Amino acid sequence: MQGSPDAPIDDIDRIMSVMERAFSPEFGEAWNRRQVTDALIVGSCRYGLIAPDGSQNLESAPDCAGFFMGRSILDEEELLLFAIAPEYRRRGLGHQLLDFFISQARANGMGRIFLEMRRDNPAGFLYAAHGFQEIGVRPAYYRTASGQRIDAISQELNLLD
Ligand SMILES: CC(C)(COP(=O)(O)OP(=O)(O)OC[C@H]1O[C@@H](n2cnc3c(N)ncnc32)[C@H](O)[C@@H]1OP(=O)(O)O)[C@@H](O)C(=O)NCCC(=O)NCCS
Repeated sequence: MQGSPDAPIDDIDRIMSVMERAFSPEFGEAWNRRQVTDALIVGSCRYGLIAPDGSQNLESAPDCAGFFMGRSILDEEELLLFAIAPEYRRRGLGHQLLDFFISQARANGMGRIFLEMRRDNPAGFLYAAHGFQEIGVRPAYYRTASGQRIDAISQELNLLD
């Protein structure tokens, strides 16, 4: 696992490889390479990667299993993207990567983490397990490829408690 605001090309390849596998086209949540690259040029964005064995050693890993991207403003950080590739799910890597993201946010002096997800995304169980709480709903905010409208759920984790 590793986390850094500077993204070498190899790491952008790793992020995009997970992005293409992890997000269903139905929900249109995946970012393209340009969006990722542009976000990481901005100093307020950071990312982290996790290898299939849960380690930080991506250089010798056969694949990248997951990644996150976050953006901070003052003492608040938004979790922009969080994904584990389908073939590595349900073995605790999501928990590990989220722990890493949260502990880095704390170490960076953040007081609050914010995120937004579509209602009924199973990721909600993961976020709840780490203490995130619902703070708002935007009714019918997302529109899926098949035309369904889905609420956006805003969640926060207060790091000052
Ligand atoms: C959400 C996601 C990151 C979870 O990754 P993961 O490696 O499978 O997570 P873990 O194995 O650490 O499991 C974490 C917890 O999430 C919950 N969970 C994950 N997938 C679930 C599912 N399909 N159904 C129900 N609960 C689920 C469980 O509570 C699980 O904990 P438990 O196994 O101790 O009960 C992964 O499914 C993913 O990448 N999804 C697509 C991208 C996405 O939607 N990202 C979030 C955007 S807001």
